[in-house]
Amino acid sequence: MSQEKQTSTVDLYSQYVAPTYGRFKICPKRGEGVFLWDENGTRYLDFSGGVAVNSLGHSHPDLLKAISDQATDLIHCSNLYQHRGQAELARLLTEKVVRINGKCFFCNSGAEANEGLIKLARKFGEISPSSTGEPRHEIVSFYGSFHGRTTGGMAATGQEKIRSGFGPLMEGFKYLPFNDVDELLNGVGDNTAAILMEPVQGEGGINVASEEFLSAVQELCQTRNILLFFDEVQCGMGRCGDLCGWRMISNDQEIKPDAISWAKGLGGGFPIGAIWIADKGVNDLKLCDLLSPGTHGSTFGGSPLASSVASTVVKKIIDEKICDNVIKIGELVKNHLQSHPISLITELRGLGLMLGFQVDVKAINGIEGFQKTNKTPALFLVELLAESGLLTVPAGPDVIRWLPPLNVKEEQIMEALDIMRTVFEKINT
Ligand SMILES: Cc1ncc(COP(=O)(O)O)c(C=O)c1O
Repeated sequence: MSQEKQTSTVDLYSQYVAPTYGRFKICPKRGEGVFLWDENGTRYLDFSGGVAVNSLGHSHPDLLKAISDQATDLIHCSNLYQHRGQAELARLLTEKVVRINGKCFFCNSGAEANEGLIKLARKFGEISPSSTGEPRHEIVSFYGSFHGRTTGGMAATGQEKIRSGFGPLMEGFKYLPFNDVDELLNGVGDNTAAILMEPVQGEGGINVASEEFLSAVQELCQTRNILLFFDEVQCGMGRCGDLCGWRMISNDQEIKPDAISWAKGLGGGFPIGAIWIADKGVNDLKLCDLLSPGTHGSTFGGSPLASSVASTVVKKIIDEKICDNVIKIGELVKNHLQSHPISLITELRGLGLMLGFQVDVKAINGIEGFQKTNKTPALFLVELLAESGLLTVPAGPDVIRWLPPLNVKEEQIMEALDIMRTVFEKINT
């Protein structure tokens, strides 16, 4: 047996893995439901949820079965062929999730899904030009948004810190203030082909679009023949209490997007991305047929394995009415925090189980030793919570995000609230 001391995982990362993340020194080894164990056997309550990915928790038995059954039959085949699993998933997303006629395209991630939307907008702008006859190519997105790390996704993202250092960026994007109807009406021009928005901004700090803003966007899109795109990569698939995040905002008014992007929770941990495109007329063509043969593609997108897992996730959320749990538990957190405020938390934002705790930056700045850490207030607190067994994620510099599994139980929520209360009270005395 080799006597060589095994190099630690943290050291392997530092030597061999590109430093694209500010990683925590936590090395997960095993997961089950809402719990995660690291290499030392320490147990964590995982409310980071793989950043909104593990919708059914870790290693859900139905997911394991879907993976194993499908892998036995067929893992991958080319998109040159027609596999039933992908077609069934497209039907499920269209008929049971969006409930508007349309078609789907499959890829592997959120950024890739948004690339599909960007290409769709360009195709649309070409056949539906501006008043001068020039192709329309502008896509309007919003400050605080996040649409991915690819060159297109970055260009679409309304956060300077994401784009900085990668110029020249892809042209044709314009950013407007989120939830500001006047700026929206003034900012959209003759060249605008599409508006791309997250109904609930995730990375930007859990900012929920107002109902008024959502309807203003829809009305503007309809009157000016502009496409309405929802990036539901983080807020979709039940995270906010409905399979479609925007439906938790729009109440009675029917909002009809022209296209939607998904990823994250759709696969419950298995990589898959998708776009859905409405079956709507554009000249004598259909929007959902604009990405015609040879114009777009993905080798792995919607493989038999990915499609089978995603169908299992979506069916489970529907059949077991998991969105009801999301709404119930989300309300529980809000009510509990209202009746039992937690030190250092000034506000709770979000919908369902996409929750953002705004932290008291002034109070944290006053905590002895904080300034020397050089960390943002959110990161500082997220690290302290992790040391006490609760995994959460920062959303911007001063918001702590909770993204637990959608089937999380009440007692697990109470345990997480207790950890937060104990940790924050201790440091804020
Ligand atoms: C709203 C939104 N869009 C797109 C993305 C990019 O997704 P991915 O990391 O799968 O490329 C993210 C990731 O955080 C996201 O939150």
